[in-house]
Amino acid sequence: MKKILDWESREVVNIFDEVTLWSAPFGRMLLENIPMMPRATIVDIGFGTGFPLIELSQRFGDESKIYGIDIWEEGINRAKDKIKTLGLSNIEIIEESAAKINIGDHQVDLVTSNLGVNNFEQKDAVYSEIHRILKPRGRLSITTNPVGTFVELFDVFSSIFEALKLKEEQISLAKSIGHRNTEKGIIAELKQHGFTLLKTQSDSTNIRFVDAEALLNHSLIRIGFRKYWEEMVREEHRAQFFERLISKINQLIESSGAFTLTIPMLYLEFEKA
Ligand SMILES: C[S@@+](CC[C@H](N)C(=O)[O-])C[C@H]1O[C@@H](n2cnc3c(N)ncnc32)[C@H](O)[C@@H]1O
Repeated sequence: MKKILDWESREVVNIFDEVTLWSAPFGRMLLENIPMMPRATIVDIGFGTGFPLIELSQRFGDESKIYGIDIWEEGINRAKDKIKTLGLSNIEIIEESAAKINIGDHQVDLVTSNLGVNNFEQKDAVYSEIHRILKPRGRLSITTNPVGTFVELFDVFSSIFEALKLKEEQISLAKSIGHRNTEKGIIAELKQHGFTLLKTQSDSTNIRFVDAEALLNHSLIRIGFRKYWEEMVREEHRAQFFERLISKINQLIESSGAFTLTIPMLYLEFEKA
């Protein structure tokens, strides 16, 4: 058995978080649904700071082999610290894009990705590589947030762009919303790459804010979203846009008590045809 971990030690405190709150509802969905099998070879694509890679390593045990693929250097370093502190020996990290995976053909039982598919550059190449490395009838299990994410906020964006007659911004907004796929769209894409759908689950979660400033200053928004929202609006219109955004959101909150961002969640499981 591996050694007991001391919750008071700096080392353990430093790695004492499996996943961010943003990824957690998707992660639960993934882990509650993925096929379980002994002595599995698994590849987790886009593990970020180690999720679900480290969870898979511990749930599938030492007779399984878990490869983690990512390109985010600082995320990989943090994942390596967690792996070292936890003494996990069944993980191998591949620090390169999943568009070209250094694993032979037909080697893998299960490929997972929690919130990866919206972010993959060269998505078609990634899907082809997943198909190549999977054994016949191997599984691909993914979670993602499809179109509909933050719909309440983008409705407000759209009404402001309309009021200010910002046509270019309306187009950028439509593009940004369209960059997320629909359930049907993802299934069709993966079908083209030789996958058959086995299982779907959908759910939703939400994040509520007490005012517009709280929303715009939240770390999730500052890390993952605000840069793209700023880039959506030409510089000369930006200050006015954000002023209107804050005022409109706060107006909406007056009647409802909070501003709710909805996040639809999808779990999709495929078999290599
Ligand atoms: C939204 S994060 C998800 C991280 C983690 N799975 C989680 O649940 O918190 C997406 C991850 O995909 C990685 N990524 C994006 N494109 C990739 C590619 N082509 N190959 C491998 N990883 C990729 C990013 O570096 C990032 O760590």
